[in-house]
Amino acid sequence: MNAGGDPAPDATYGDPVLDLDRPVTDRLLLRTVPGAVDYLAEELRELPTAGIVGRRHDGVVIEFAGPLRDLAANRYYTTLAVLTADDAGIARSRESGALAAVPEPPRFRVGRLGERRWPLRDRLTASGWRNAPGDWDVNFEPDPEGTAAELGGMYWTSRFGELVRAPASTTPVIATVMLRLAKVQEGQRVLDPFCGAGTLLVEAARGGAGRLLGADHDRRWVRSTRENLAGAHPPVTLWRGDARALPLPDDHVDRVVANLPFGKRVGSHRGNTTLYPAALAEIARVLTRTGRAVLLTEDKRLFTETVQRTRGVRIVKQITFTTGGAHPSAYVVTTRRGR
Ligand SMILES: C[S@@+](CC[C@H](N)C(=O)[O-])C[C@H]1O[C@@H](n2cnc3c(N)ncnc32)[C@H](O)[C@@H]1O
Repeated sequence: MNAGGDPAPDATYGDPVLDLDRPVTDRLLLRTVPGAVDYLAEELRELPTAGIVGRRHDGVVIEFAGPLRDLAANRYYTTLAVLTADDAGIARSRESGALAAVPEPPRFRVGRLGERRWPLRDRLTASGWRNAPGDWDVNFEPDPEGTAAELGGMYWTSRFGELVRAPASTTPVIATVMLRLAKVQEGQRVLDPFCGAGTLLVEAARGGAGRLLGADHDRRWVRSTRENLAGAHPPVTLWRGDARALPLPDDHVDRVVANLPFGKRVGSHRGNTTLYPAALAEIARVLTRTGRAVLLTEDKRLFTETVQRTRGVRIVKQITFTTGGAHPSAYVVTTRRGR
C-alpha cells in the first residue's frame, strides 16, 4: 500500500494469491520487533476472532478463528506463521487452517531446520507440495513448538508494499509504534527533519496529518521520500536542508517524528555532540506549546543529557526496541507549558 491512507475495506492486500476471506481456524505466531509486542497485543485484543494464548519477546501467539483479512491490516507485526507440532498439524492447517488460504499446489521452502530439513522436504513433496526455494508461499522455520510455517503473503511488505529504502531507514513496525506515540490529531502539521526515505512521514500520512514536512541534508533521500509519499493525501513540503537550521517560524508544527543519526552507520558520536543540541533546540523552537516529538536514537546518554539542557522540552516516555543488532529507544518529548 502507498501512503494514501487506510485501504478501503474491500481492498486486496499485496499478495493476490492468498485467499484472505476464507474462514480458517489455527494457532498463529505473529512476530514483531522486540519493544513492539505490547502494541501488537493491544491491537489483537480488539479482534474478536483472535485469542492471545502466549507472548514472546518478539511476538504474540494467538488462537485464531476467522478470515486472515482480519489480521491483514495490522501494522504491528512483520511475519505471520502457522505453529505446528508435526506433520499431522501441517495437514490439518492445510485442510482448515491458515495453510488452506494458500493456492494449490503450495510452493514451499524449508529453512534452518537442521537434520529435519530434508525429510520434511521429501514428505511435503510426496503429499503434493512443490519445493520452490526461490519463489515460495510457505517457509518452514524451526520453532519451540515444532515448526513455524510462515506465509509469504502475510509478510509486512506483501501486505503494505515495498518502500524505497535508505541504508538506515526506519523499520516500518517501529515507525508504526512511533506514530502511535506521537498521537497525531486530525489536520496537524507533522515534521521529520531527518527524513531519510520518509518511512515516518508515510506512517504519518496514514494517521490523519494535515500537512507533512520533511527535510534531509542528502538530496537523494529527499527524492526517495517524495517517491514514497506519491499519492499521499495531505499536502507535502520537502526540502534539502540541515536539521540544525530549519526554515520554519517558531511554534509552527504540532508533531516532530525523527530517526536521528545514531552515530554508528549514520554520522558519529562526536558529530552528534554538536548535532543533537542544535537540532533539539530547533525542534523545541518550531514545536507549538502543546507540541510533541517522538525521536529515535541509540546515542541515548547524549540524547537524554541534551534534552535536559534544552530549554522548553522534557522526556515523558521511552520505549526500547531491538532491531538489526541495535537497541534504539524512541523518546517522547513534550514542550513545557509556558515556554
Ligand atoms: C536514521 S536516518 C533516517 C531514516 C528515515 N527515517 C527513513 O526511514 O529512511 C537519518 C537521516 O538523517 C540525515 N541527516 C544526518 N544529519 C543531518 C542533518 N544535519 N540535517 C538533516 N539531515 C541529516 C541522514 O542523511 C539520514 O538520511
